[in-house]
Amino acid sequence: MEKKIIVTGGAGYIGSHTCVELVKSGYTPIIIDNFSNSEKFIVDRVEELTGKKIEVEEGDCGDYEFVKSVFKKHAEVSGVIHFAAFKAVGESSNLPLKYYQNNLLSTIIMLKVMEEEGVSNFVFSSSCTVYGEPDQLPVTEDSPTKPAESPYGRTKQMCENIVTDFSKVTKGFKGIFLRYFNPIGAHPSSRIGELPIGAPNNLVPYITQTAAGIREKLTIFGNDYDTPDGTCIRDYIHVVDLAKAHIAALDYLLAEKEDCLEVFNVGTGNGNSVQEVVDTFQEVTGVKLNYEIGPRRAGDVEKVYSDATKVENGLKWKADISLAESLKDSWNWQQSLK
Ligand code: WQD
Repeated sequence: MEKKIIVTGGAGYIGSHTCVELVKSGYTPIIIDNFSNSEKFIVDRVEELTGKKIEVEEGDCGDYEFVKSVFKKHAEVSGVIHFAAFKAVGESSNLPLKYYQNNLLSTIIMLKVMEEEGVSNFVFSSSCTVYGEPDQLPVTEDSPTKPAESPYGRTKQMCENIVTDFSKVTKGFKGIFLRYFNPIGAHPSSRIGELPIGAPNNLVPYITQTAAGIREKLTIFGNDYDTPDGTCIRDYIHVVDLAKAHIAALDYLLAEKEDCLEVFNVGTGNGNSVQEVVDTFQEVTGVKLNYEIGPRRAGDVEKVYSDATKVENGLKWKADISLAESLKDSWNWQQSLK
């Protein structure tokens, strides 16, 4: 039987890599995307990489009638992976209503239509941002969540609460929160990857655009933190490893007989500093980066990286692509955009 999976935001960075892995694992992705933060040519690239036609429903996840029509058209949907959300931390502070409306409403509508259409498997794209500045490292799923530092982070926390409350009163519902750490890298084919709109907020695309001469200089936001080299520490996970974690989550839910709601940290379990990322990038690419040390960025967490024990045992999934490999893939993707 065809295992159709609705992938909201499926033309996006993580969504597109996940669609490739879905097809490779025998699932049939159906993309819902309004292309507000993604490009249509990426779908063509997913078709090229998978050799399969990918169905796309262009529209907004916050539009009940549209979402309802998609579920009606594609009877027998086995599950939903919900990526669609605005995700720029800095922008969210300037445009809070845009973030709350989009990120919360899309989740509410997806759950409402799933319930009406009898679809019970739900994988939610969450974020380590829900932990704030952790008291203890590495971060486990039992680590306390903290007030997020941005409206973006608060939408992730609120969406987890919405799904949790919904699951308590919805018989048959099976859900998984995947709390991502820092997604980086690109498909090794260099046919899909990250497409930041405007100046990137995130470190790795800013590095590759600086290396490509698109940006004049990288600023390292602070080297006076309480870390070995003074720069912030993060858990950088290759986007293909992250995509595969979604397949593992789906496999788990489709095999699960009981109602459930599980949380998994999806990271490598290793922490790397900003300076280490810069140094590794220069080593693996041979490109000398133009960078300076600047002031701290408001809202930055000093150190956060995952304890990946639960996801490795619970989903039988483990990240295995190195930081060096990830940065090489990012650079190859950047060069393919020339
Ligand atoms: C990483 C480190 C910066 C840019 C956020 C969200 C998270 C996820 C990923 C959406 C920090 C430093 C960065 C630069 C720098 N978003 N940096 N110079 O903030 O850890 O996580 O993006 O899914 O939910 O919270 O990622 O890549 O922005 O920053 O020095 O030009 O790189 O200070 O220490 P972050 P990031």
